[in-house]
Amino acid sequence: MDTTIKNDRIEWLQGPSPDASKDGTVKCSAVPAERKNPWRLVLLGAPGVGKGTQAELLTERLGACHLSTGDVFRAAGKRPACDQSPAMKAAFDYMRRGELVPDSTVWEMVRERSNCILHCGGFILDGFPRTLGQALALRDLMEKEKISLSAVVNYELPLYEIIQRLSGRRTCERCKSVYNVKERPPKVETVCDRCGGRLFQREDDRPESITVRLEAYERSTAPLIQFYKNLGLLMPIVATGSPDEILARTMDKMDKLDKLAHDK
Ligand code: AP5
Repeated sequence: MDTTIKNDRIEWLQGPSPDASKDGTVKCSAVPAERKNPWRLVLLGAPGVGKGTQAELLTERLGACHLSTGDVFRAAGKRPACDQSPAMKAAFDYMRRGELVPDSTVWEMVRERSNCILHCGGFILDGFPRTLGQALALRDLMEKEKISLSAVVNYELPLYEIIQRLSGRRTCERCKSVYNVKERPPKVETVCDRCGGRLFQREDDRPESITVRLEAYERSTAPLIQFYKNLGLLMPIVATGSPDEILARTMDKMDKLDKLAHDK
């Protein structure tokens, strides 16, 4: 079993909870070290392209925190029904069908976790923003706090490979590590290498939901590519090959970006 210490991201996954502590906030067991120039990244790309996998690897390299909106919704879905707000219950129905959760619900959830975005260790946003409305809300929050994005990494992969990756995906119910039965199998079937948790197949990885998700991506999320290109933030990365090869491509471009910033 891998014993690497991993941030449990509980503050992001759970959000503010009235009975968690005196100030109503749960605290992560380990937080990224504060940095002078933290990396603040958005990962873009179709469902299944490998954003979550790369976010985990980038987190280990950069120390920034992995903030996934999909993981927040899935964590909320595990709570007892009486602890779930009507908006959250509606969100699960959207997810199951493969549709996007309405912007108002997503933004409410992100806004109440804005401490994670403002943390001086940086962040890797995975699955957010996903619509122009969400991108504008994020921009406004960051402008207000006088912080800016370092880059928007856009992973590109042919459709047939995306479908292959999605249908073989398995996720750890405890630490959320991601595997693939064909390409990245765990050492023991259905058991997480990292924490020993049980691996499960996501409900929205059924073929009918995959089609809806890919359509929602084309309609609502793909336009963000041009939006971030216009802002000079887009970093396109070919997402074929092994996770380590893709990481190396990403790090190479980020090193160049870092050097440019220092040369200015
Ligand atoms: P979310 O959880 O964000 O899912 P997604 O964006 O659809 O992306 P995925 O998690 O499916 O894929 P991924 O790109 O992270 O790929 P992964 O690394 O897992 O969102 C789920 C739902 O929540 C949405 O549909 C929506 O309903 C809702 N939602 C969330 N955020 C929202 C928002 N902001 N607004 C509105 N609604 C929102 O990899 C996939 C598989 O490929 C794995 O098995 C992995 O092991 C394998 N793999 C990865 N890399 C490689 C490689 N290089 N080679 C071979 N296999 C690989």
